[in-house]
Amino acid sequence: MRRFNILAVATAAAVVTACGPSEPAKDAPPAPPPPTDAEKAAVLASLPAPYNTGDLENGQRKFALCRSCHTITPGGPNLTGPNLYGVFGRKAGGLDGYTYSEALKKAGFVWEAAHLDAWLADPRGYMPGTKMTFLGIKEAQDRVDLIAYLKVETGFKPTEPAGAPAAAPAQ
Ligand code: HEC
Repeated sequence: MRRFNILAVATAAAVVTACGPSEPAKDAPPAPPPPTDAEKAAVLASLPAPYNTGDLENGQRKFALCRSCHTITPGGPNLTGPNLYGVFGRKAGGLDGYTYSEALKKAGFVWEAAHLDAWLADPRGYMPGTKMTFLGIKEAQDRVDLIAYLKVETGFKPTEPAGAPAAAPAQ
């Protein structure tokens, strides 16, 4: 009797490398490019006192307190809280696609530094009924630095007329 050695032929598996160019997210609207360092410096310098002397590094450190719930990049996702890119000049509770509390939906103001300062000092004291469960930042200087950082990072355009698309300044 012959013995047949059955060779488990490991068919040289065609290594299919499916690494074409990665597709951009299909449902995301085209996001503006992030600000350059020069643009950030120009925004900082244009802010009214005391924000124009805000410490951006400290602001970035304080933003660590927000990061678990908020993104600030253009077109960034909503987490527990809404994406904050473009928050300055935006109606409170006004980001499409995010489900706000009734309190924030009915707030009836547009976000700028003064409202943000009061909000960040004590969110639930400032706006009873908000679902932002954050205790607040007690140090006034920390809030100044964080607001300066957010202005610089979230696409705030100091000289831009309301509602105009971001364009190169005419000069
Ligand atoms: C534990 C999660 C959490 C943390 C931490 C947090 N937030 Fe929020 N934030 C929320 C939620 C939830 C809302 C929506 C509140 C509502 O609808 O009442 C919100 C709303 C906001 C809004 C209003 C946005 C809009 O579109 O009207 C701002 C501004 C904001 N947060 C800033 C911050 C900043 C700055 C920090 C850090 C200092 C921070 N938040 C920390 C959860 C959080």
